[in-house]
Amino acid sequence: MTRTTDRAVSPQFLARWSPRAFDGSAVDEGDLLTLFDAARWAPSAYNYQPWRFVWAQRDDAGWNDLLGLLLPFNAAWAREAGALVFVLSDRQILAPGASEPQEATTASFDAGAAWALLALQAETLGLATHAMAGFDHARAPEVLGAGDRFKVEAAIAIGRRGDKAQLPETLQAREVPSPRKDVHEFAFAARLPG
Ligand SMILES: Cc1cc2nc3c(=O)[nH]c(=O)nc-3n(C[C@H](O)[C@H](O)[C@H](O)COP(=O)(O)O)c2cc1C
Repeated sequence: MTRTTDRAVSPQFLARWSPRAFDGSAVDEGDLLTLFDAARWAPSAYNYQPWRFVWAQRDDAGWNDLLGLLLPFNAAWAREAGALVFVLSDRQILAPGASEPQEATTASFDAGAAWALLALQAETLGLATHAMAGFDHARAPEVLGAGDRFKVEAAIAIGRRGDKAQLPETLQAREVPSPRKDVHEFAFAARLPG
């Protein structure tokens, strides 16, 4: 199944979708650095760039630590990815002209923009991404060295698409690009409808 849409959006947006079947091949460090380079061109409030990435390749010493943070329903398929990346955001911002850091109000929004660029860049390298909120949110800050300052936003499995036959049947059925709401369900002129 391929996605179609109503207007002439860039084909890259339709090509990206989140698989669960990965082929178990390695993702090399150079490709990961290219993904992070794409992410750094995201816009952010005050250009503060509050995103942080903590990554492990599948053969790294850190792989088991990161994989071990995923909830079992995600770890079951994400273990065949080539790399895992956690996206964090800085809860503090030192705004221009301020002498003391203050609570960042846009860090999650900005980190989301960075992840989107990473995901699109991955497709151009022949890599697929799958974001996950299903991880151990209580343990993640300690394992990732985030302390209280950084919010652990999401995990991302990165790798090459694999054979969906390796998945349980329920997940095989979901191994297709998903549809979207119609634009008129979420975009409104002037104000939301009452
Ligand atoms: C922040 C975030 C958290 C997600 N958490 C999970 C997850 O824990 N497990 C999972 O299988 N998919 C997860 N997803 C994947 C979404 O279900 C998926 O992106 C969505 O259904 C749209 O499909 P597409 O990415 O293939 O276009 C998550 C996606 C995002 C952006």
